[in-house]
Amino acid sequence: MPDPSRILERCDALARHSELPGGLTRVFLSPESRAASELVLGWMREAGMQAGLDAIGNCAGRYEGAQRGAPCLMLGSHLDTVRDAGRYDGMLGVISAIECVHALNAQKKRLPFAVEVLGFGDEEGVRFGTTLLGSRAVAGVLDMNILETRDAKGVSIREALRDFGLDPDAIPRLGRKRGQVLAYAELHIEQGPVLEAEGLPVGVVTAINGFSRLRVTLTGEAGHAGTVPMRLRRDTLAAAAECVLAVERIAKSDAELVGTVGRLEAKPGAINVIPGEVMFTIDFRAPRDDLREDAVSRSLSEIRSIAGKRKIQTHVEPLQSFGVTECAEWLMAQMDRAVAAEGVRVRRLPSGAGHDGMALKAITDIAMLFVRCKGGVSHNPAEAITRDDAAIGARALYNFVSSFDAGRRLPA
Ligand code: GLV
Ligand code: MN
Ligand code: MN
Repeated sequence: MPDPSRILERCDALARHSELPGGLTRVFLSPESRAASELVLGWMREAGMQAGLDAIGNCAGRYEGAQRGAPCLMLGSHLDTVRDAGRYDGMLGVISAIECVHALNAQKKRLPFAVEVLGFGDEEGVRFGTTLLGSRAVAGVLDMNILETRDAKGVSIREALRDFGLDPDAIPRLGRKRGQVLAYAELHIEQGPVLEAEGLPVGVVTAINGFSRLRVTLTGEAGHAGTVPMRLRRDTLAAAAECVLAVERIAKSDAELVGTVGRLEAKPGAINVIPGEVMFTIDFRAPRDDLREDAVSRSLSEIRSIAGKRKIQTHVEPLQSFGVTECAEWLMAQMDRAVAAEGVRVRRLPSGAGHDGMALKAITDIAMLFVRCKGGVSHNPAEAITRDDAAIGARALYNFVSSFDAGRRLPA
């Protein structure tokens, strides 16, 4: 059975690979991500898998089934983090999946299908502003034009891949065909308060909320903070402040909707200069696509009207959007049984956060298992789980894998 102490020790070991001393920040294709990948690949091999980095920098491990080359059940999560992150978001799912394979291998158990574990290199999208790069490549839905996207230092994804020793031209070959992947299942911390409030260690995910991400640039006029009269200013930061409040007001207009301005940068950024340019991001999420799309269009029309009154120009770049991603009923039913086998009441719940399954849904059905986290806190160094919950989560995942029934999806 999966060993919860080893799972938590490995989460701690990965958390030591950070760009920030005393915190955890590990972005896509960074030196820290290389060190973390080397650890993960070592654990995969130790668990009996063939493992290596793929062309986009995912850690990819495969444990053959009873017959070599059989379609796989894919497990995974991501190894990149947000800035000043917790140590479980993403990593817990990768490590728990490896631990399940370790348990199969220890019993010399081969299943009627292969088990693959993917540690995706980019889910958070922190470095390049565009998310799910690793899982989109594996799903074969990554538009190669995206490789020209640049980070804050001007390095493109293509250049960063080359600097990492990877071959960007091999990315199109990573895409799996429907039928090669029987299903994708991911264990992840809940990142919300529902399980804790109900006293449950784990829950079965029903769907992942959709998201829309945009970048807005406001251009006004920089000027002297001492000489330009208030009525003559085209202050982009004052305009942005109104825009942020408009986004908040719209997000609050429906209990199912959330909206966030997570980045705001004013230029030139000096105490005595009127900000001539501001960039800010918008992130809307909802369990209904029409609700989210309506929030985006209402926000943009408010932003244009705020800017118009202040004689400020707006430029809007849609960064990325994903519709609501449903988990498959046939997989949820198997996950329910895997949870019930641990003596836990089955609770189904939606996910407010985004996950790699959103991309993998293009080629296969998906399932997710949530593990309770303390106070529902995540994207925060205070993220915490208990050893008991890690154990129940990993055992439920193991139950799911070892009794997985692909039904008619597996060739006889
Ligand atoms: C990923 O964590 C996201 O939902 O932004
Ligand atoms: Mn996250
Ligand atoms: Mn995550």
